[in-house]
Amino acid sequence: MRNIRFKGSLILGLILFVMTNIVAQNKNYEAQIDALLSKMTLEEKIGQMNQYNGFWDVTGPVPAGGGAKIKYEHLEKGWVGSMLNVKGTEQVRKIQELVVNKSRLGIPLLFGFDVIHGYKTISPIPLAEAASWDLTAIEKSARVAAIEASAVGLNWAFAPMVDISRDARWGRVMEGGGEDPYLGAKIGAARVKGFQGDDLAAPNTIAACAKHFAAYGFPEAGKDYTAIEIGMSTLYNVVLPPFKAAVDAGARTVMNSFNLVNGIPATGNSWLQRDILKGRWKFDGFVISDWGSAGELVDHGYAADLSHAAELAANAGSDVDMESSAYIGHLKAAVESGRVSMAVVDDAVRRILRVKFELGLFDDPYKYCDPKREKELLYHPDHQAAALDMAKKSIVLLKNEKQLLPLKKDQQKIAVIGALAADKNSPLGSWRLGSDDNTAVSVLDGLQKYTKNVKYAKGAELVIGQATFTMETKINETDTGGFAEAVKLAKESEVVIMVLGEHGFQSGESRSRTKLDLPGVQQALLEAVYKVNPRIVLVLMNGRPLAITWADEHIPAILETWQLGTQSGNAIAQVLFGDYNPSGKLPMTFPRSVGQVPIYYNHFSSGRADPTPHVFWTHYSDESNKPLYPFGYGLSYTQFEYSSLDMIMTDAAGRQPVTVQVTVKNTGKVAGEEVAQLYIHDKVAGVVRPVKELKGFQKLSLQPGESKIVEFKLTDAELGFYNNNGDFLVEPGEFEIMVGGSSQTGLKTVITVK
Ligand code: GLC
Repeated sequence: MRNIRFKGSLILGLILFVMTNIVAQNKNYEAQIDALLSKMTLEEKIGQMNQYNGFWDVTGPVPAGGGAKIKYEHLEKGWVGSMLNVKGTEQVRKIQELVVNKSRLGIPLLFGFDVIHGYKTISPIPLAEAASWDLTAIEKSARVAAIEASAVGLNWAFAPMVDISRDARWGRVMEGGGEDPYLGAKIGAARVKGFQGDDLAAPNTIAACAKHFAAYGFPEAGKDYTAIEIGMSTLYNVVLPPFKAAVDAGARTVMNSFNLVNGIPATGNSWLQRDILKGRWKFDGFVISDWGSAGELVDHGYAADLSHAAELAANAGSDVDMESSAYIGHLKAAVESGRVSMAVVDDAVRRILRVKFELGLFDDPYKYCDPKREKELLYHPDHQAAALDMAKKSIVLLKNEKQLLPLKKDQQKIAVIGALAADKNSPLGSWRLGSDDNTAVSVLDGLQKYTKNVKYAKGAELVIGQATFTMETKINETDTGGFAEAVKLAKESEVVIMVLGEHGFQSGESRSRTKLDLPGVQQALLEAVYKVNPRIVLVLMNGRPLAITWADEHIPAILETWQLGTQSGNAIAQVLFGDYNPSGKLPMTFPRSVGQVPIYYNHFSSGRADPTPHVFWTHYSDESNKPLYPFGYGLSYTQFEYSSLDMIMTDAAGRQPVTVQVTVKNTGKVAGEEVAQLYIHDKVAGVVRPVKELKGFQKLSLQPGESKIVEFKLTDAELGFYNNNGDFLVEPGEFEIMVGGSSQTGLKTVITVK
């Protein structure tokens, strides 16, 4: 029997602290909630559990049961608890007045929206922000999003999305924090704090929503909305920690997901929602379904019909039904027949009312409807500055042979080639429903602020016709008519900046791809230009890792710029001309080929991991096991050196906390920022641990020649893991420790935990 130990005393203390905090925070609301609940009819209670889409915008298929007429009637009756996709203080006020003045109890609505990375001012896509590893900047980015969203009447963001994913074929990797649970958890918590601030009742803070609970980032074959079969070890140690971090950071809502989790749809999954989230984690906010996902229990073959779906979803802990009309149409009958208890309904309504009280909506239902704030705050210069800062920090330098970058400020004859170079929409990404078209600074715009020595040739269209959020994006696979002009320009130029990658609507929801190459004719364009002028800086603009192996073998400089939002072109220009030294590190592994996917750094070993003289070891016959670029990788215009890795076991018995110290030095000629990363490997464990796990990082700025000592603390929280029963264990034994500038390089040592 392994000598394992639970942290009983610490866990008990934590629970007591959390319970005390919750009681302290909510004691005055519980009495008011009880009083209101006692007055509500069953229909009015179910109304709180019902969410409708605004009649002006659609982010998902409009259900047959919808229709503005019915929705208005239900609003007047108080049979709606929240709305989504209502835009602007005028619209919000109009609907809020309808409910507050016309319905019997006048319970104010919540207004939610997909404020995924900004509202009007768009910050980099979340995967890009994750590449900054800068939690302060990420929190600030969410803060700005909350200020703008609350200025247009919204009080609830359907964010942060904290789905860990290792599969770049899945379009929604752009929306999360990458492949690692430790980084993903830190980022999720930072975003919750940014949205909710210190006072949820303030007019510029909004409720956050950790989504999609759970395991949505592990779709079979990388295809959105497919089934998910996942082992308990991955569920407990990879999928759930970012959600736990978001809940511990105070997230007031959680959204469940479209997918099955081991045969049971998340929306109908009592183990996830009641046992884990509301039980073990003591979450006292509410859970909302994803768009129509309650009704989709029928499509999954889990519910016989919508009435059965309403019963299963409510009993499983889905408190709000987003746009499937399952609850408003069938929950009353389910309660009257005893299939759903009144206690289930009361618990759901209590949770919803609690968040409304916390937001201050009962004190002032129109607190978010101030046209003056709406006028003053949208696209505010301070928000542009924050977006620019976030964008610069999100850029990752992947290659820089012979220091081609940064370009000289007086660089002559610069060719800029690629449809994306002039694109003012794709940098905004796919989740930009609140913003306006063509509001991104393009790469061309940004460059032309630096120099007049720029000439542009598109080379080829990236998409055919119009591309929108709800349409399939058609890629130009054949038209190379613009190549000749681009090649001619390249031939006449001293350096070529090629902006290639994905259209903004090639990633995001329901945008899965089977290939990870440069889409369309872009690879051909790149090779045609390379033939006449190899001095190319490739600027990638994409929403997912790409398998750009040819480019890595041929192109001297490669910059990963993702989709950087409103200030995209300015951030890219500042990096290209050296006014900002790139500091990003990859939050997700880049594969050499799509055949390697899923490929990620924190994988398990194998019984046959080492190459043997014969063929029987874990490998491909046609591809390396190695990624193109690993998790945590990113270059700088300067160089950093790691030395003096020391362990200080602060406890003579060899128990943690272990203090890990390392010296980082800037050995180059320009100032720069480095993300020092700490990884552990628990060499022998009762449930096998990955070959490496990120358990600490610090981003530090260093002047040329400057050194800093970086300290990391390793406690049970970092050294432990969950077993397949969900028990958190710290097992004694040897741990390899590695500290460096990526998941593949660093100084190593071994500690023994007793
Ligand atoms: C979508 C997404 C979810 C979003 C919701 C409302 O289908 O899955 O992330 O918040 O519907 O737009």
